[in-house]
Amino acid sequence: MKILYFSSTGNSLYVAKSLGGEIIAIPKLINENSYEIKGDAIGIVFPVYGLCVPPYIEEFLKNLNADCSYLFAIATYGTFPGSVCDEISRITLKNGRKFDYINTIKMAQNCITFADMAKQKESNRQQDAIDSILGDIVAKKKFIKKETPFKKYMTKNHKKNYEYPTGAGMTEGFTITDTCKGCGMCARLCPTGNIQLKDGRPLFSESCISCGACIQNCPANAIHHGKEKSSARYRNPHVEVTDLVIS
Ligand SMILES: Cc1cc2nc3c(=O)[nH]c(=O)nc-3n(C[C@H](O)[C@H](O)[C@H](O)COP(=O)(O)O)c2cc1C
Repeated sequence: MKILYFSSTGNSLYVAKSLGGEIIAIPKLINENSYEIKGDAIGIVFPVYGLCVPPYIEEFLKNLNADCSYLFAIATYGTFPGSVCDEISRITLKNGRKFDYINTIKMAQNCITFADMAKQKESNRQQDAIDSILGDIVAKKKFIKKETPFKKYMTKNHKKNYEYPTGAGMTEGFTITDTCKGCGMCARLCPTGNIQLKDGRPLFSESCISCGACIQNCPANAIHHGKEKSSARYRNPHVEVTDLVIS
């Protein structure tokens, strides 16, 4: 089994690892222009953004040729996933493949402008959910989680009326404090290569996807956003910062 994952604070990485098999970071595949994946079973594990599939992941899936007998997707979320399963079921991979299995797992919320990271803790049903999904995958169960009309309405409404800020819209809200030691960890964590060090300080370009990897995992807690709920930071307790490094 091969599991392709995207993770800025380790929730999706933890799920991907817990399912077993070979894990491959999606940003590495994108950076290497590597879209041909062969395996018996192939899975995608990613976080919900804006009650939907992050555009970065959707774009990746539309370029992906997954040659497999079983294709599954697991979306991790922190509060409310909207109709993400419905959204991903509509995506067709480049080689015409559709998903055989789609499910969600509730984890901690990692959006710093939405929630206080000091209050985040593991969901107590998280392990049961992982075990149950693993059982489904081993059995190659065909299942797509059904979405309620309310969830569909919420995602549709959210997509139409609210776009979470990305690019400069996100990074213009950043400040770097004097605790920054110029270690460059932010640049190594950024999935889109959007950060370069200039005079020992991070400099952001235009391709921020708002994942928060740089902010959440800065060893000096030197990156802040004007709208963050507190200066506390979150990383999944089973994951080390080095596990999240892209380059
Ligand atoms: C930009 C952004 C948008 C998010 N939007 C949602 C959302 O709509 N619903 C939700 O429940 N969680 C949302 N989250 C939280 C993540 O989906 C959740 O914490 C996920 O498990 C993080 O996974 P990761 O640690 O693998 O990146 C959002 C997080 C970010 C950074």
